Amino acid sequence: FEVNWDAEAAEKGGYEHFMIKEIYEQPKAVRETMTSRVAKDNSGITFEELNWTKDDVSPIKKIAIIACGTAYHAGIVGKYLIENLSRIPVEVDVASEFRYRSPLIDEQTLAIVISQSGETLDTLAALKEAKKLGARTLAVTNVVGSSIARDSDQVIYTWAGPEIAVASTKAYTTQLVVMAMLAIYMGAIKGTLTTDKVQALCQALRELPAQAYEVLEDVEPIKTFAQQYGFNEDVFFIGRSLDYAVALEGSLKLKEISYIHAEAYAAGELKHGTLALIIEGVPVIALATQQDVYEKTLSNIKEVKARDAVVIGLGLKGDQQLEKYVDHTIFIPATNKFLTPILSVIPLQLLAYYAAVTRGCDVDKPRNLAKSVTVE
Ligand code: G6P
Repeated sequence: FEVNWDAEAAEKGGYEHFMIKEIYEQPKAVRETMTSRVAKDNSGITFEELNWTKDDVSPIKKIAIIACGTAYHAGIVGKYLIENLSRIPVEVDVASEFRYRSPLIDEQTLAIVISQSGETLDTLAALKEAKKLGARTLAVTNVVGSSIARDSDQVIYTWAGPEIAVASTKAYTTQLVVMAMLAIYMGAIKGTLTTDKVQALCQALRELPAQAYEVLEDVEPIKTFAQQYGFNEDVFFIGRSLDYAVALEGSLKLKEISYIHAEAYAAGELKHGTLALIIEGVPVIALATQQDVYEKTLSNIKEVKARDAVVIGLGLKGDQQLEKYVDHTIFIPATNKFLTPILSVIPLQLLAYYAAVTRGCDVDKPRNLAKSVTVE
């Protein structure tokens, strides 16, 4: 009698790849990242690791978010949330650019570095540069005791658990949760958010794990799209405001693991060049979850439809209009508009995953890429 012990298969817990396992771990990862930070009565956010008061938040005149890859995309969402909810100007840089552009950073700047691994060399070097210029520093990372965590003045940990697949999924969603909590936290301290607004946001945060689970229960249509369009060599993602930020991440996922050429565009920017690339049969994933720009997005969808693109619309459950304008729809549960990215990215991760599987790619270890890049 011989036991065939495959440690890796055991770690995958019945899933075919780490990536899909990690996609399915998101409801738990999101819940754990919120636990002990969102008050049970939804009255506010606590960060014991920060313990900030007005005296800590008021001197911040600018926030510089610095990160690479997927973490950079979380930073773009972070900018939107922090500027809207706590009214502090935010700039976002990819770490490899930050150091070489003579950034305007001083003692009144809070530098937030986001890094799943906490070891990305460019991000670490940017953190050191920000410190040298006098900024206060805050790390958002998933790895306790990592170099970036050790080098920052303060740290907020994402509690995603170990992420093995090269393409980041659950780390991203938990980074978004931290960005949202931080924006609410600073907004409440500064007084830019009313108690009612804080309460509504906290309540919406608490509903996210169950809603993420709901998205994961409805994967069959996404699998079908991936099989149907997985052999196209070009795919476009369009969206406005937060949908644009998520489009960037959706297109990166597709590029990383399925090697499909994918591009994300702010939907309103299409007419300034990209529309030239939209021809018959080109798949366009159109995100339309943001109600304040919904009509504008619909008109951009009409523009690509008029060029005979095949449009997959991603909207909110209950949206009766979207399917009239697109070829296929994917719906996610409605939440507070600021939290939508945490749900809308999940179908895009799944789409990338199933496209890669359809194309026979090495999902967990895509060519030329590393999980943690510790060289410049
Ligand atoms: C690598 C990974 C990406 C990741 C990026 C930043 O390129 O392949 O998935 O987003 O590094 O990594 P970090 O650990 O700093 O978040």
